[in-house]
Amino acid sequence: MNILLINGPNLNLLGIREKSLYGSTTLESIEKELVKKAISENVSLECFQSNSEGEIIDCIHSSKTKINGILINAGAYTHTSIAIRDALLGVSIPYVELHLSNTSSREPFRQKSFLSDRAIGVVSGFGAYSYYLAMKGLLDYLQRGR
Ligand code: DQA
Repeated sequence: MNILLINGPNLNLLGIREKSLYGSTTLESIEKELVKKAISENVSLECFQSNSEGEIIDCIHSSKTKINGILINAGAYTHTSIAIRDALLGVSIPYVELHLSNTSSREPFRQKSFLSDRAIGVVSGFGAYSYYLAMKGLLDYLQRGR
């Protein structure tokens, strides 16, 4: 089983960025922990981060033949990018949308997501733990063969 974790813009700043919202754990440390957890579940996890919409789309396209499921924290692109939505639907790879913060309790512009209606599920508000919960949900979905 091959899983891809995609992090969008500004998530490379985790650990220094708005800590009261996003916590003090770095992206590197989240990725390391998640890779360890994936290995313990016999799953291969690839991690990708970009601040560029086009690079995220290219990454989604190139995963078409090798990835079974995607975990995506698209950052602010969640609320703006029809192009990322189209890329995810275009490759037909099941995905889970995730966020560190609870976007539903924040500014009105964060309450719209272009990804959530076609996601297997959405995990939001659990800080770094959202990544783990999202992976558990994705693996459960894939292992049940749905
Ligand atoms: C975020 C929420 C987004 O609204 C914001 O633009 C981010 C991070 C989160 O993980 O809580 O960059 O995706």
